[in-house]
Amino acid sequence: MPPRITTDVADALRVLRDGGLVAIPTETVYGLAADASNEAAVRRIFAAKGRPVDHPLIVHVARGAQLADWADEVPPSAAVLASACWPGPLTVIVPKAAHVLDVVTGGRPSVGVRVPAHPLTTELLDRFGGGLAAPSANRFGRVSPTTAQHVLRDLGDLGDLDGGGDDETIGVDLILDGGPCPIGVESTIVDCTVDPAQVLRPGGIATEEVERLLHGAVAPASGPSRASGMLASHYAPRCPVLLASSPAEARSIAADQVNPLVIGDPALLDDLVRYAQQLYDLLRRADEDGHGAVVAVLPPAAGLGHAIRDRLFKAAADRAG
Ligand code: TXA
Ligand code: MG
Repeated sequence: MPPRITTDVADALRVLRDGGLVAIPTETVYGLAADASNEAAVRRIFAAKGRPVDHPLIVHVARGAQLADWADEVPPSAAVLASACWPGPLTVIVPKAAHVLDVVTGGRPSVGVRVPAHPLTTELLDRFGGGLAAPSANRFGRVSPTTAQHVLRDLGDLGDLDGGGDDETIGVDLILDGGPCPIGVESTIVDCTVDPAQVLRPGGIATEEVERLLHGAVAPASGPSRASGMLASHYAPRCPVLLASSPAEARSIAADQVNPLVIGDPALLDDLVRYAQQLYDLLRRADEDGHGAVVAVLPPAAGLGHAIRDRLFKAAADRAG
């Protein structure tokens, strides 16, 4: 059965309390949420995504004060970042409280926590009271969804995947439609279990802002995102992705491609907020519209440019084998 699409928070609340899966809108991307305290419900997330079970999930809560419910101890860096950035596109990795399920943390001694900024999801989390474990609501290795329609296309009707002939849905039960995600790339992940703290994945909060808030006490990122479970070939459309450092270079690369989609015209490069908002929709459209290749212009490595570059490098990574 295809999932229902609704704006009714009470409906979403019922599904979650029954151990079901709800796609939730956030300011970054849509998440695939389950009650973080219900092991069977969390396991269904991995089945729906086709995601390896050792990949840890972020726990989403309504307010910053709840960080202490999930952390064994709140490191000073996490307290500073949470109070400055929440609600917002920041995830802190902290030592986990004893009750946090292994299925959520992938057996790690730490847990990722975030307070998302989206009115529907804030109301949902408030009324739910607990934490919602939620990865991005895409099939594993695919581009994250930034609209309810993206979620529906990825996870909408997976049918009876286990082949048992029973009625159990493996996909998402309900999609809470909060419109297009305003930021469009995932949260910035900061590992606060180490000192100095370390940015594991650049995202909606600029790395420079994290450095400013922690007075520069941030370990330098070593190459593309290091969040555990992040493989190089994530965020990839099916067609090849080629990178250019300027619109002129993109045009010359595109000239050798069959039906290329060029991303990153000068207007988009001048407006990185819009570039981030549109990035995943453009990458999805490349496949849907049957383009032979994507040629994307890398923005400068500053502000949101860090996150956009990181996702483009991953999309372009060699997927042979
Ligand atoms: O913006 C976001 O962060 C979105 C929305 C839905 O909140 N969520 C998201 O989740 O991007 P996901 O699962 O697609 O990516 C979360 C990343 C994964 O790479 C995971 O390995 C990392 O966070 N992560 C989660 N818990 C961790 C932990 N305890 N230690 C290290 N990395 C962790
Ligand atoms: Mg993801």
